[in-house]
Amino acid sequence: MATLTVNGVRRDVQSPADTPLLYVLRNELELSGPQFGCGLAQCGACSVLLDGKEIRSCITPLSAAGTKEVTTLEGLPARWAQQKGLSKADAGKTLHPVQQAWIEEQTPLCGFCQNGMMIKATELLEQTANPTLAQIKEAFTTSGPSPHLCRCGSYTAIIQAVQRAAAVMARGR
Ligand code: FES
Ligand code: FES
Repeated sequence: MATLTVNGVRRDVQSPADTPLLYVLRNELELSGPQFGCGLAQCGACSVLLDGKEIRSCITPLSAAGTKEVTTLEGLPARWAQQKGLSKADAGKTLHPVQQAWIEEQTPLCGFCQNGMMIKATELLEQTANPTLAQIKEAFTTSGPSPHLCRCGSYTAIIQAVQRAAAVMARGR
């Protein structure tokens, strides 16, 4: 048995230490944000944040999480609420600016890749407040083990959503 910190909560899990983190999150903890795409760190659909850094959970063993904080798509609202110091009541009504921007830009097509896109955007905007177009493209294409792939070709909408979220986060609300 191991204990994971996921979305701010300590969770006991039964999976063996070499189980891919993605399987633990989806199958044991019933968090369906991260998706199984390629299983080979080649698409980004399974991405989560580990201490704020995007990782591919399909190739990351449970043991690698250790005492680090795992944040999934489901945990982004609480992550933002904590960063903003919102009350519990307000936190429950808040989406992360990245998620809100994705809705307002109507970014997803089939949606399968969008978990990874929003996780990558969150990592980028926590590190770089007002990224340039080149920095956005670099984040999604060369900063990880492979580019984030969207078979539907929603890349333009993703860039627009990142820029929208960046403006909101820079204003702090
Ligand atoms: S499923 Fe993990 S990178 Fe594709
Ligand atoms: S929206 Fe369909 S794969 Fe990206």
